[in-house]
Amino acid sequence: MMRAFYERFKPGAASNSHTGARVPIATKIILSFLLIIVMTSLIFTVVGIQIISSRIVSEAQEKVNRDLNAARVIYQSKLEHINDVVRLTANRFYIKDALISGSVGDFAQELVKVKEGENLDILSITDPSGKVLLRANNLGLAGDDQNHNELVAAALSRHVSVYGTAIIPAEDLNKESAQLASQAHFIFVDTPMARPRSEKEETDGMILAAATPIFDYENKLIGVLYGGVLLDKNYDIVDEVKQTVFQDMKYKNQDIGTATIFQDDVRISTNVYNADGSRAIGTRVSEEVYNQVVINKGTWIGRAYVVNNWYITAYEPIKDIDHQIIGILYVGILEQKYTDIRRQAIFAFLGITLLGALVTMVLSYILSRGISVNIRKLVGASREVAQGNLNARVEIKSNDELGELAETFNSMSSSLKERSDQLKEYTRSKIMESEKLALIGQLSSNVAHELNNPLQGIVTYSHLLLEQIPNEDPNREFLQKIVVQANRCRDIIRGMLDFARQKKPDKTACDINEVLKGCVSLVRNQALFLNVVVIYNLENNIPRALIDPSQIERVFINMIVNAAEAMEGGGCLTISSRFDPDDRAVEVTFSDNGSGIAKENLDKIFDPFFTTKDTGHGLGLPISYGIIKEHNGTIAIESEVGKGTTFIIRLPIDEEGGSNG
Ligand SMILES: Nc1ncnc2c1ncn2[C@@H]1O[C@H](COP(=O)(O)OP(=O)(O)OP(=O)(O)O)[C@@H](O)[C@H]1O
Ligand SMILES: [Mg+2]
Repeated sequence: MMRAFYERFKPGAASNSHTGARVPIATKIILSFLLIIVMTSLIFTVVGIQIISSRIVSEAQEKVNRDLNAARVIYQSKLEHINDVVRLTANRFYIKDALISGSVGDFAQELVKVKEGENLDILSITDPSGKVLLRANNLGLAGDDQNHNELVAAALSRHVSVYGTAIIPAEDLNKESAQLASQAHFIFVDTPMARPRSEKEETDGMILAAATPIFDYENKLIGVLYGGVLLDKNYDIVDEVKQTVFQDMKYKNQDIGTATIFQDDVRISTNVYNADGSRAIGTRVSEEVYNQVVINKGTWIGRAYVVNNWYITAYEPIKDIDHQIIGILYVGILEQKYTDIRRQAIFAFLGITLLGALVTMVLSYILSRGISVNIRKLVGASREVAQGNLNARVEIKSNDELGELAETFNSMSSSLKERSDQLKEYTRSKIMESEKLALIGQLSSNVAHELNNPLQGIVTYSHLLLEQIPNEDPNREFLQKIVVQANRCRDIIRGMLDFARQKKPDKTACDINEVLKGCVSLVRNQALFLNVVVIYNLENNIPRALIDPSQIERVFINMIVNAAEAMEGGGCLTISSRFDPDDRAVEVTFSDNGSGIAKENLDKIFDPFFTTKDTGHGLGLPISYGIIKEHNGTIAIESEVGKGTTFIIRLPIDEEGGSNG
């Protein structure tokens, strides 16, 4: 009794309930990869650019700071050279002698020679009170007091050589020469961002100078020799800085390194050029830098706009011997070079990041395509299986969950195929069996029909004959056997006809307990039941069953008689009934403690004409089975040889009538 639930899954019937557009897994994977790549690249790029920029800026600032130190060394060595020249000249004997003897004029030519030879702009001798005795630039002019010249004053008072940067007033320059005065003369050039100044020109000069006291042989101060180089429009120092520190390097036709000497805030010596190619002298430093370096006496390192370009710059104060700030020393590196380096680095960086992103994208595409191709294969194969092709298999050679899924899918579809083959085979054999049965039924019904009439004749005439034969006739015994056998044949034929002519049940709602009791009372008085105890185990208030009572009676009597026959000499027959609410059915069981049924016979007892009894026809159970089936019920058996047998019959209840009180 096999019930099979076979529901066919139509493709699309089990489609998911998500609405919205369908996004393939590959796209989703690529998109999520893309998001990660874009995010990390963005962070990477921003942070990277930040690091590169600050690194380059600080690198440039460190360099410019070192360059400023180098410029200071060059400036200082220039000053020391002047000091050496003045000191060595002052120590010459014939200067002493000329001063002692009062004939300083004899020394004039020698003084001029030293000045020219050492490229000094000024070289003069004063007496111990500071009055000029001899002036190499202007031999005719002497006698003026130089005590306002702090170097001369310091040499006179301290009796040692002093040297440093100093401001030389226009008045003194004029005494030297008109040329020096004009060299120190600057008309200010308008400079954006410079501090506002009421003055329009500068006439004083800035000078690197040294003063050395001269002593006689008793070590008495007899004069001072002082000399110096005017810094205004003198480009020796700045160009030397450019040459030695920056090696005259150019970037896009512009000097990379520049140096400048400011007198106060005015460019008096520089190799920063104007747009027209002339040196940018007379221009002024920006107010911001001036405040930092001159007012706050500090150093400036940073970006600054110089004349007409941006530079990474370093400025520091130039002080006189009294530590007063009188000017500024500047070096600067063209910023353009660093901006270009930075730009190139950023481009390289962006390029690498972009390339990385691209490579990752391609990789993720290949990866996700691999996944999606496999998924598509699985979807296709599933669809084929859903459409009934159980031979569909997936070929996925990948060492991951997809590979596993494919394997599972393949084994699933092969076991489905196996099951379906088994089911087909089972159905086929069942159909053949029922066809065979139908054929046998048809055949036996025809045979029975044909045999019925002649048999009827045999039964009738053998009875008549038996009545006419006296009791003592020796043939009577044979005739009696003929009658019994003929009766038996008639019963078989009737049974066969009954079996063949099974009618549709005429169902009504019946109380199954009443039907059971009726059946027992019908057979109760037969000899077979003399030693049989019948035990009822009936559930009260059982719902009515929907049955044809006469057909079901026949089934029940069959069960009861079979049980009694199995118990032969006597035993105990238990008849139970109960309602099974899950199945909406009434269950009736007939349980005996008779002989039981051998295992090998269990399959056969429902076959027509199968019997283990001498007088049996083997039709009771097949007819019962047919009736129960017509009632949409079931029959099941439990049996053990030597212990007994239980038949379990289930019949549907009358759903409309409800329960029977
Ligand atoms: N309660 C039972 N205990 C043991 N065997 C049984 C029982 N009921 C049926 N059988 C076995 O099943 C066989 C078939 O039973 P079935 O009722 O179809 O035929 P029968 O009883 O042999 O003949 P009849 O046609 O007279 O009923 C029996 O011959 C017997 O071997
Ligand atoms: Mg029977």
